[in-house]
Amino acid sequence: MPSIFQRYDLIGLIKLTISWIVTKVLFRPARLIRVPYYIRGKNSISWGSGFTTGVGVRLDAFSSSNLKTKLIVIGERVQINDYVHIGAIESIRIGNDVLIASKVFISDHNHGRYNQADDMSSPDIPPAARPLFSSPVIIEDRVWIGENVCIMPGVTIGTGAIIGAGSVVTHNILAECIAAGVPAKVIKRYNRELKEWLSV
Ligand SMILES: CC(C)(COP(=O)(O)OP(=O)(O)OC[C@H]1O[C@@H](n2cnc3c(N)ncnc32)[C@H](O)[C@@H]1OP(=O)(O)O)[C@@H](O)C(=O)NCCC(=O)NCCS
Repeated sequence: MPSIFQRYDLIGLIKLTISWIVTKVLFRPARLIRVPYYIRGKNSISWGSGFTTGVGVRLDAFSSSNLKTKLIVIGERVQINDYVHIGAIESIRIGNDVLIASKVFISDHNHGRYNQADDMSSPDIPPAARPLFSSPVIIEDRVWIGENVCIMPGVTIGTGAIIGAGSVVTHNILAECIAAGVPAKVIKRYNRELKEWLSV
């Protein structure tokens, strides 16, 4: 494995050192939170040891009620890469050993609701003025989420599942499945006897 001096140039090393100091001062027990980052509602977010982020990560935890519960819960050894945006007003839970690639978007809410009648969600109301409606998101242990994925409100992704790059996940994905596409559909499932991911 190349040493840290082989992997980073001088500027990279300076940025890494700043990120390391910021992490140790502000984000214990995380492993490394890279600067710059944008975090709103830090008191409503928890993370486990080993938590590592890329640059430009945006975590938004915002609730109109004064609940003491955490809105974003991130497990142990979770790694999220550059420009990931996670926005919660109710609950987003990420299990242990989850790997999230770059530019992934995860949200538990919409501006307005569009699956039933709602006066305040009409095209006459500016989107930002429409009430927020939410449904919890759960990402279980050992899930791998590919680059540029969107995960929509109300979705649960089961243990060990994989979400292919560029997918939009609108429905639950069962454990040990690979799902891909827009909307994401299961393309493979892990066969424990054969120790192989088989097409469905
Ligand atoms: C999902 C993934 C793991 C599947 O890998 P795989 O099983 O080797 O894929 P295959 O090449 O066998 O593809 C199986 C089918 O799914 C389709 N498919 C694979 N990935 C897809 C994706 N991301 N979106 C849509 N369809 C996809 C293939 O076109 C193929 O369809 P076909 O049978 O009609 O030809 C991989 O394609 C992927 O998206 N990896 C994420 C890479 C990434 O984001 N890396 C970041 C590093 S953290």
